[in-house]
Amino acid sequence: MPIHTKSIKIFAPATVANLSCGFDVLGCCLDTVGDEMVISISSTPGTRITKIEGANLPLDTKKNVAGVAVEALLENYDSEIGVEIEIYKKIKAGSGIGSSAASSAGAVWAVNQLLGGPFTHQELIAFAMKGEKLASGNAHADNVAPALMGGFTLVRSYTPLDVIKLHTPQDLMITVIHPLIEVKTSDSRSVLKQKVMLKKAIQQWGNLGGFISGLYTEDYDLIGRSLEDVIIEPLRSILIPEYDNVKQAAIAQGALGCGISGSGPSIYALSKGADTAEKVANAIREVYKKTAVSFDIHISKINTQGIKII
Ligand code: HSE
Repeated sequence: MPIHTKSIKIFAPATVANLSCGFDVLGCCLDTVGDEMVISISSTPGTRITKIEGANLPLDTKKNVAGVAVEALLENYDSEIGVEIEIYKKIKAGSGIGSSAASSAGAVWAVNQLLGGPFTHQELIAFAMKGEKLASGNAHADNVAPALMGGFTLVRSYTPLDVIKLHTPQDLMITVIHPLIEVKTSDSRSVLKQKVMLKKAIQQWGNLGGFISGLYTEDYDLIGRSLEDVIIEPLRSILIPEYDNVKQAAIAQGALGCGISGSGPSIYALSKGADTAEKVANAIREVYKKTAVSFDIHISKINTQGIKII
């Protein structure tokens, strides 16, 4: 049994990636839903996952996103140390709110804390992306970045990796409905086309610029106008029951915009103020109550801190 020299318990938040206009580059962090993890450092070299509760995931470090991410970190650390990981999953796999990202980002963030912070955010994002690659076949950073940095993040470039934390307007709230069906990110990536019409690309980058400008100027109408996805949503929304009705109901209740959360099946809506976010939640609940699909609804402020010790 390895002797732990240091140990911390953390909250690893759920995240919403893409935010309609920023496929693979935009994401934001929630604060009412997330996993818990206990990470310990020991003098017995190697990474060990000692406990997983709340999900049927592999303990084998090479098959577990947290294990793979920590191994990537340790390969870049000078001394030989041991890491033990306990995972208490609250975010369901295949939910579209960054379940794998919470585990991989949480694990590397905690190890970095225990080691006194030798790695930068950009380095931790790169380690956590190895976990995303294992989970979905693609090393995207738009969930791990907001989990690690908090708030809204933009992946300006993947090669070289350049991630920017954006401004969060005070009153912005997010409502998320998670239909309890699993959509694997790898499956919902396989329905995408590799080529985009120039006309659509122009619309999308206009919206991405508009969204970011809206965040900084706290122009909620501009944020709303920019939450449009003409490239990915038409292909993926057919995988999500009642997608159009949920979107219509959210907008009718005053949501600024509504779209697919990450690769789905969760749907997110951004609103100005808690009252509107609550009304949006009630309206989309009514839509889903008429179906046979079970669901969870989360209402959250934007979590500007990201992962934290609890
Ligand atoms: N950007 C990724 C995708 C996020 O949409 O496939 C996956 O959560």
